[in-house]
Amino acid sequence: MLLQIPGVLTPEQVAHFRSRLDGAGWVDGNITSGYQSAKAKFNEQLPDESAEARELGEAILVALSRTPLFMAAALPKQVFPPLFNRYRQGMTFGNHVDSAIRSHGPTGVRIRTDISATLFLCAPGEYDGGELLVEDTYGVQRVKLDAGSMVLYPATSVHRVEPITRGTRLASFFWIQSLVRDDGQRSVLFDLDMAIIRLTKDHPGDPALISLTGVYNNLLRMWGQP
Ligand code: NI
Repeated sequence: MLLQIPGVLTPEQVAHFRSRLDGAGWVDGNITSGYQSAKAKFNEQLPDESAEARELGEAILVALSRTPLFMAAALPKQVFPPLFNRYRQGMTFGNHVDSAIRSHGPTGVRIRTDISATLFLCAPGEYDGGELLVEDTYGVQRVKLDAGSMVLYPATSVHRVEPITRGTRLASFFWIQSLVRDDGQRSVLFDLDMAIIRLTKDHPGDPALISLTGVYNNLLRMWGQP
């Protein structure tokens, strides 16, 4: 399941992020990553131990915990401390699949990457190119979102970032280990959850809600790995 989640950060938060990131110490994206996809990667990154990455990463984790759509779709067991990248003109990240296990040096966090996340920090009009292309069973999805909005997609997907032909693209990226490892099972739970929410709004007293909520919880009990 590929899901767009608008408004994770407010415009004020995005402005604060941008001013902090402007003055940060960016390094070659390959210095911080020793994995195979490094060959395809041509961008800049904030070192994971940098003060900006830590402070802004914390703010993102708080924002996620207040975003019901994220909680419902990801069913997070653990969120990797958010990282930050920057693509200037000519930069790109070719086709790759994210590593299955990621370790974060400063915190010792180590997770299985079930879901990949990109949180956009620039408006689409600020740069040309830079779309995130994700290959899924329905074909290639092309994603370029408003500043403060986020996309979730299965970490098993082949994906790439198109070359930037004008301007600069700033984003945060991270992974989630979910309580429900399988993307298909997670999608079923998400659809059921959304249907229950709609039914609760349209027919609040319907006794079927008790059954459906029971089914949701019993499926989560069956599939969840806390
Ligand atoms: Ni990736």
